[in-house]
Amino acid sequence: VFAEEEAELLLSAANTPAELDAMVARRVDGLPLEQIIGWAEFCGLRIAVDPGVFVPRRRSEFLVAQAVAAAGGSGSGPPVILDLCCGTGCVGLAVAAALDGAELYGVDIDPTEVACARRNVAGAGQVFEGDLYDPLPPSLRGRVTLLLANAPYVPSSELGFMPAEARLHEPTVALDGGADGVEIHRRVAAGAPSWLAPAGSLLIETSERQAPLTEHAVAAAGLDTHVVVSEEWATAVVVGRSAAPKARPT
Ligand SMILES: C[S@@+](CC[C@H](N)C(=O)[O-])C[C@H]1O[C@@H](n2cnc3c(N)ncnc32)[C@H](O)[C@@H]1O
Repeated sequence: VFAEEEAELLLSAANTPAELDAMVARRVDGLPLEQIIGWAEFCGLRIAVDPGVFVPRRRSEFLVAQAVAAAGGSGSGPPVILDLCCGTGCVGLAVAAALDGAELYGVDIDPTEVACARRNVAGAGQVFEGDLYDPLPPSLRGRVTLLLANAPYVPSSELGFMPAEARLHEPTVALDGGADGVEIHRRVAAGAPSWLAPAGSLLIETSERQAPLTEHAVAAAGLDTHVVVSEEWATAVVVGRSAAPKARPT
C-alpha cells in the first residue's frame, strides 16, 4: 500500500494517540503493517493476522481463482476443501466463501498460525495442528475435492535475500522450502492421491521458475498436471487432477 493508505490504516486501528505512537514505532522498526493493525484484506475478506504469523500475499488470490475454477469440474456434491499449510487460513476461507456448502479443513504445523486460523475459520470449518496430512481424521481419505497448498517454497539458500519484513518478522518455517524450495511440494504431492476424491484437484502455489519441479512432483504422484502462470502477480499454480470415477457398465 502507499504511505498515505498506511497512515489511514494506522489511524483507524489506533484507539488513542499513545497507541498510534506505539504502532508507528513498530512500523518504523520494520514490522509488517498487517501484523500491527491485526488484519489483512484477502479476496475481499478481512483476515485476522496475529503478530509473528505469515501475512497473506495478494498473489495468492490467483491460487484462489484457480481453485474456484477447478471446483467446476470436481464432480457433483458440495466441495470438500483441504488447505494444507494454511497459515491464517486465508486461502481455504476465500475458496469456501466462493463455493456453496463447502466443507473446510486446514492444517498448519505452527501453533501460532493454527490459533490465528482457528479464529478466522471459526464456525466455517476445522483447523488441525501438525505435519501436513498427519493430524487429519482418516474419515477424510478419498473425499477431498480441492486440495490447496501455499506451502513454503523459498530455497533455503535464498532466505537471506528476502525483504526484511519477511526475513525478520515471519517464521522461517513459513518460508523455507528446503534445498531447491520444492521439498514440501514433493511431500504434499506424494500424499495427495490417498486424500483426493475421484476427479479431485490438487493446486499448489509456486514460482514460475520452480513450476517445472513442482509439476514433476505432482505428475510423479500419478495426477494429470498442468501449470497456470500469472504474469500480473508473478506467480504460478500447478494443478494436478485425480482420475475420474470409472463409468459403470450399462
Ligand atoms: C507460505 S506460508 C502460507 C500460509 C497460507 N497458506 C497463506 O497463503 O497465507 C506457509 C505455511 O506453511 C506452514 N508449514 C510449514 N511446514 C509445514 C508442514 N510440514 N506441515 C504443515 N504446515 C506447514 C507454515 O507454518 C506456514 O503457515
